[in-house]
Amino acid sequence: MDPKPEVRSLRPEAPFFRGWPFVVDDRAMAHAESSLEPASGPLLRARRSPPLLGRCRVPGDKSISHRALLFGALCDGTVAIDGIGRGGDNHSTARALTALGATVAFEGGRAEVRGVGLGGLHAAAAPLDCGNSGTTIRLLSGLLAGQPFETQLFGDASLTRRPMLRLATPLIQMGAAITGRTDPAKPNEIYPPLEIKGGRLRGIQTTLPVASAQLKSALVLAALQAEGSSEIIEPGLSRDHTERMLRFLGAPIAADPERHAVRVDPAGWNRVLHATAMVVPGDLSSAAFVMVAAAIVPGSDVIIEGVGLNPTRSGVIDALQAMGADLTVTVTGEAMGEPVGTIRVRAGRLRGARIDGALALRAIDEIPALAMAAALAEGDTVFSDLKELRVKESDRIASLARELNRAGVTVVERPDGLTVAGRAGEGPSLRGGTVQPMHDHRIAMSGAILGLVAEEETLVPAEEIATSFPSFADTLRDLGASLT
Ligand code: S3P
Repeated sequence: MDPKPEVRSLRPEAPFFRGWPFVVDDRAMAHAESSLEPASGPLLRARRSPPLLGRCRVPGDKSISHRALLFGALCDGTVAIDGIGRGGDNHSTARALTALGATVAFEGGRAEVRGVGLGGLHAAAAPLDCGNSGTTIRLLSGLLAGQPFETQLFGDASLTRRPMLRLATPLIQMGAAITGRTDPAKPNEIYPPLEIKGGRLRGIQTTLPVASAQLKSALVLAALQAEGSSEIIEPGLSRDHTERMLRFLGAPIAADPERHAVRVDPAGWNRVLHATAMVVPGDLSSAAFVMVAAAIVPGSDVIIEGVGLNPTRSGVIDALQAMGADLTVTVTGEAMGEPVGTIRVRAGRLRGARIDGALALRAIDEIPALAMAAALAEGDTVFSDLKELRVKESDRIASLARELNRAGVTVVERPDGLTVAGRAGEGPSLRGGTVQPMHDHRIAMSGAILGLVAEEETLVPAEEIATSFPSFADTLRDLGASLT
């Protein structure tokens, strides 16, 4: 039988907590709570906009950039990565890898990673700050579970609230020792900070409780270091960048998309990932904000070039088409096994649609943008099967309901989704106000694009936008959007 996972609370007196940004006790959590208040940093002002017209590109895909940096650090030589994402989350991964012994140098849209191989990392001198990035903390946990040293991982107020038991349980079953912060109000969960003591791992056959690429990827990284084969099955097919990239680098990984399963069999493998030049396509999740802005601002016609079109990620395209958007996609090539292409969106009438099941999973990060399109559609748009949205950078169901209500849109919130009553033809009567991003870049950007069709000015605390899309405002401004 699998050993029962042991999880204990991290006490503030534990030595590594000294000098942390906050100690984890009731006072610290109250502080984390208060830091979820609207930020006082840079503000964007969105006003009713003239048409968005022209061509643009978006930054490198955030998910693929994390993997390129991390897998690059595990390669047997230097890896040049073109088109790397330069958002805060990707920098969190780069900083952590540097602290663990790899070398990462950025120059414009290119990163150069000096890989040290799977056996070449060393213990970090200090706890690793994962910032706002769930992908950083989860993927690193899988890697560190198989490393012969201890690591502490922490993050900002938002990351500190994200559930980690789903990650810790299988990694502990594989042989790592993991502890996390506990919350008396939620006895069956653990949260960052995490402490990971790596060990000799054994392979695992497991079915994940949720479809999650972060979780799947963490287990794949642990499985590559384990004795024996592993099989990881998900309840639905999450994004498969890890499978595509690792195959590209020569890892013993095989996917069975029909069963939502991934197999890793290191037997006979020399545990070497071969350094190869990498190219990161544009981020469809960032493009989604430009797409929705073009779909809702009357008269718009926008072409976005060089965007990743991985079918496990492209639900936003299908969802917008189901809503009647005037949207065309042209596949122009491939980068590291990922399809890449051009998306053209012209403004037009939108209608309500159902976004649930596999489509919802394939659009998980684009629901905030899609909810803004839903606000301008004719009829209701029903978003369901999205319980995971409650544990993203913010509780996105609550955040979206709040922001749409602020703008005067009627929303019914449910545990696993929301129904947005579209206000087709009433766009200019939407209200403005101040967006509350709650440390969530995608809520901030959603508020900004809705502001482009509101009657009054919308103020957007913009600090968090740099998490994924630092050039968001410039890109939209260059297309003619009233965003200052
Ligand atoms: C990501 C996976 C998704 C997504 C997140 C990035 C990744 O999360 O929401 O923004 O890079 O693997 P889940 O793993 O929770 O599905």
